[in-house]
Amino acid sequence: MSDRPVILITGCNRGLGLEFVAQYAARGWRVIATARNLDDAAELLALAAKYPNVSVESLDVGDGASIDAAAARHAGTAIDVLLNNAGLLGDREKQAFDVLDYSTFEEVMRVNTYGPLAMAKTFLPHVLAGAQKKIVTITSGLSSITNTRQVGRLFFYRISKAGVNMAMRVMQAELRERGIKVGILAPGMVDTRLFRQGGGGMPAAVSATQSVAAVMKHIDELTQDAEIILYTGEKVPW
Ligand SMILES: NC(=O)c1ccc[n+]([C@@H]2O[C@H](COP(=O)([O-])OP(=O)(O)OC[C@H]3O[C@@H](n4cnc5c(N)ncnc54)[C@H](OP(=O)(O)O)[C@@H]3O)[C@@H](O)[C@H]2O)c1
Repeated sequence: MSDRPVILITGCNRGLGLEFVAQYAARGWRVIATARNLDDAAELLALAAKYPNVSVESLDVGDGASIDAAAARHAGTAIDVLLNNAGLLGDREKQAFDVLDYSTFEEVMRVNTYGPLAMAKTFLPHVLAGAQKKIVTITSGLSSITNTRQVGRLFFYRISKAGVNMAMRVMQAELRERGIKVGILAPGMVDTRLFRQGGGGMPAAVSATQSVAAVMKHIDELTQDAEIILYTGEKVPW
């Protein structure tokens, strides 16, 4: 039995998820790297070929049966950190105020809000068996209800991320006595496909390499306070 810490990460085939895999793998952790479509995961598979401590498997966080199957595959595995990274912006036009397409709303909420909560519930036995007992969700600065100066943009994405913040905060209260630590971490504006789809017209603030390194430090230092923490270490107001 190896005593490497174990992390399970969702949405690893590109963007921040791929970078999390690369940096945890380089640290020597055992990385269970998941993605919903392994046919579109060439870079991830190349990482797994480079690092024997990385395994790759299929997991769609918008599909309860897929989550259950992944948890069953790992029955008895202790997971130190569950990292809910997978996320969806949703079609920008379909969440404009004069459209507000309901099926897009359902999809964004299912993946961004219900997905992390369902992952946490289903993998709780694995996390309770781990030494670190951390459940971390990647949120967004756009989740802040206090900071709503930009009008008319990305209704569904912002609602879904505010929702997942609440889900994680309530879950921290629920699981506090069992020693679980919940992280709600915002990566900053990073040039990924999701960021480009957002079309905010602003330049990225930080590279994926720097953002992920900073977020990993916050995961290392997690407490049971469950605040929203930006990669810089600043608190994002609720
Ligand atoms: N980039 C930023 O500026 C920024 C800012 C704030 C927060 N975030 C958050 O950071 C996280 C990562 O996003 P990113 O910027 O790296 O964007 P990205 O490059 O678009 O990556 C998103 C990842 O999530 C996966 N995903 C989407 N739906 C999924 C599902 N149902 N099941 C499993 N995986 C799914 C995608 O897989 P597919 O390839 O199959 O679609 C992809 O791997 C997200 O939670 C996002 O909201 C990003």
